Amino acid sequence: MDIFVIRGGTPLVGSIALAGAKNVALKALVASLLTDEPLILSGVPLIRDVALMGELLAGLGRKVIFNEHTVRIEKDGKDSFQVPLELGARLRTSSMVLGPLLARRGEAIIPNPGGCRIGARPIDRHIEGLVKMGADISYHSEDGYFHARAKKLTGVTYEFPKNTHTGTETLILAAVLAEGTTVLRNAAQEIEIDDLIALLNSMGAQITRSDTREITIKGVPSLHGGAYSIMPDRNEEVTFAIAAAVTGGRITITNSQHEHLEAFLDAFRKAGGTAEVEGATTTYASGGALTAVDVTTAPHPGFMTDWQAPWAVLMTQAKGSATIHEAVFESRFSYVPELKKMGADISFFDPPVENPEVFYNYNWSDRVPGFHPAIRIAGPTHLHNAVVNITDLRAGATLVLAALAAQGESYVHGIEHLDRGYEAFETRLSQLGAQLKRINEE
Ligand code: EPZ
Repeated sequence: MDIFVIRGGTPLVGSIALAGAKNVALKALVASLLTDEPLILSGVPLIRDVALMGELLAGLGRKVIFNEHTVRIEKDGKDSFQVPLELGARLRTSSMVLGPLLARRGEAIIPNPGGCRIGARPIDRHIEGLVKMGADISYHSEDGYFHARAKKLTGVTYEFPKNTHTGTETLILAAVLAEGTTVLRNAAQEIEIDDLIALLNSMGAQITRSDTREITIKGVPSLHGGAYSIMPDRNEEVTFAIAAAVTGGRITITNSQHEHLEAFLDAFRKAGGTAEVEGATTTYASGGALTAVDVTTAPHPGFMTDWQAPWAVLMTQAKGSATIHEAVFESRFSYVPELKKMGADISFFDPPVENPEVFYNYNWSDRVPGFHPAIRIAGPTHLHNAVVNITDLRAGATLVLAALAAQGESYVHGIEHLDRGYEAFETRLSQLGAQLKRINEE
């Protein structure tokens, strides 16, 4: 188990390019199952989850060849339709192979998906849509697998009960080869979905965003291979923007995704941060004294749930009392006790909410007893060094940001969570001036 030793207090200054978007690359790899022809993806981030997905595809009869940030996937003779439990349990997106396997093989056995420990993360909305398209799916608790079959998938009109990013993508991946037309209503609008749609259309699919929160997919007999370049990761941009602000530095993102970060840029500028857009670049800095700004997370185009953890660190450095209301996942504040070890003044509370069953994006029945959906941060506080533990990906980046802002030397445990979603995080932070080294604990 690796840890980061971080000496805080150095302003981060310099230019950096975003890696490819994790939440596109993983689905693009799954899309390779929809054709027997080679698919070449470039701009793929070199992160553990992508390597794991490569292993998963190899187990399903694909040859996956990585060359730097490009990966070539082609058919490899073997033809399995079962995802091993240990693999599926480590990768939230493992369940997404349901779509392509049912569409082309008529059969799939997949484990209950894992991913970050930020809640139950069920896939009931994925299953409901696939069943409507003609799949027969049952969960066998005795072996921990979903067993799915479908003679053929037929196009349907399906309305999601609530927003689901990967649920929308799973149904798109199932519908592209289905018989007839599928219309998805109350479909997610996360921009990563549009990149997946562009990839699939480049492979011969016929998918359009036919209305607000509506996607229409005309089934086609087959998809061909091709080549596609993955969009940069906007979640990384938020992490580096906040790194600049909390260390009193100045960071330029050379392949900025500012056009997909409006909700973040609004809040960041309101808090006193500066974000200067110039062509393809955006330069972030603290802009002097920061002031508290409340945020409530929401599906795109709202303030993304992936941004709230790093935002909390920014608010520890802002004057006043800031609230963060997490409305997407039912337990995504694992970083709070760790930030408090560093001197942050954070308390939990329950904001009054009309009709919470509808307001919260998770299934109300999944809420964790005793969990509070909001925190209040009093600032500014001087963060000091501590020994902290990472439990999930975005919380991990948060603790690194806090350690970079804190005085003294901090020890951050659980770096494997960071390796899941941030490419060469320590190297890139060091290039910006961070005093940080990775040591192996064993
Ligand atoms: C995707 O997760 C992303 N992951 C998440 O990023 C991101 O935070 C999230 O979308 C919101 O944008 C990937 O794309 C791999 P949801 P996903 O389905 O699809 C509940 C990161 O750090 N729900 O929109 O799992 C669910 O439990 C990750 O990169 C159901 O109850 O999110 C959650 O509370 C973290 N039943 C809420 O809805 C379902 O069938 C939103 O989930 C599906 C979802």
